[in-house]
Amino acid sequence: MKRSIIKSTGRHLPDRYVLNDELSELMETSNEWIVQRTGIEARHWVGEDEDVGTSDLAYEASIIALERAGWKPEELDLIVFATMTPDVNVPGSGAFLQNRLGAKKVPALDIRQQCTGFLHGLEICDAYIRSEKAKKILLVGAEFQSRYLELVTENRDTAVIFADGAGAVCIEAVETNEDVGVITSILHADGKHADALRAGLPARKSGKAISPTVIKNKEHFPYMDGKTVFKLAVTLLPKVTEELLLKANMKVEDLNMVIPHQANLRINEAFRQRLNIPEEKIYNNIQQYGNTTAATIPIALDELMEKNMLKPNDTIMFIGLGAGLTWGGVIYKLI
Ligand code: UT7
Repeated sequence: MKRSIIKSTGRHLPDRYVLNDELSELMETSNEWIVQRTGIEARHWVGEDEDVGTSDLAYEASIIALERAGWKPEELDLIVFATMTPDVNVPGSGAFLQNRLGAKKVPALDIRQQCTGFLHGLEICDAYIRSEKAKKILLVGAEFQSRYLELVTENRDTAVIFADGAGAVCIEAVETNEDVGVITSILHADGKHADALRAGLPARKSGKAISPTVIKNKEHFPYMDGKTVFKLAVTLLPKVTEELLLKANMKVEDLNMVIPHQANLRINEAFRQRLNIPEEKIYNNIQQYGNTTAATIPIALDELMEKNMLKPNDTIMFIGLGAGLTWGGVIYKLI
């Protein structure tokens, strides 16, 4: 039976490192508020004058992952690119990345799904591998969010949270009878909360996409009903964890590490306490990176690998919730 194994990882964060104090010079906020309410101390943003796109951040993470896997880009069967901040509206960033990698005619699939983009990507890659449609896949989560934030008091809730970065993984089909690699995944969506976290451009249900009204109403900046999303997260993340554990016939104690999406440290702490997960078994890095949306989970995984915090046979759980509303998780066992 073919199993999906993460052979290597890579990450890339832009050099510019923005401390909370820098933001408090631009809007009414403070380091104290941001740390207390979100856990974030700093984040990486692309420099204001840099000529960089989301696919460039993804490229840097991808070449690290490919080199660690010992793969040439043209050997890939598929590139899956999860982002909600593509370089341009059309075409998808996967095409830009494929070209920069020199990955000849390798198909490049863009997916959205925002904060659960990497989780959806993992499930898609696993389906390709189990159905023997692909043997070597590059999965990337990358975001360039800083330039679509409005750095003013009115939009300070989103301005202090979102950040830039990329994480990449090389996923290989391995023939084995053991229960390893992607063990199980569960994904959910509930479109009735679609308005709780959204950005109005470049598409639009009615009227012209770009018009003076759209600009006047600031529909081009992200809008978030933070309280609603927060409440949904602390309720739905424990629930989907229970579903995942039941499906995999496991208990919380069987998990060696939990890698949650990094939206708010308070959400992850509430989730940890609800499920009685020991502190050392959950990994957070939002303090230094902010919320990089589709990139949070692969960046965290790469850090854990680099710090040798995962060992063979460890079972890990990726979990997340975000705009859509979409939420879900993946249980993965290392070989
Ligand atoms: O990854 C995508 C999924 N997103 C999430 O999971 C985000 C979930 N939500 C959150 O993380 C939190 O709701 C926020 C961090 C966005 C906001 O924290 P909160 O504790 O829910 O604050 P709040 O929205 O209830 O606002 C409390 C106060 C308000 O002032 P008043 O009305 O009490 O005077 C806000 O205007 O805090 C104010 N506020 C700020 N103050 C200083 C909101 N943002 C800021 C800020 N600095 N950056």
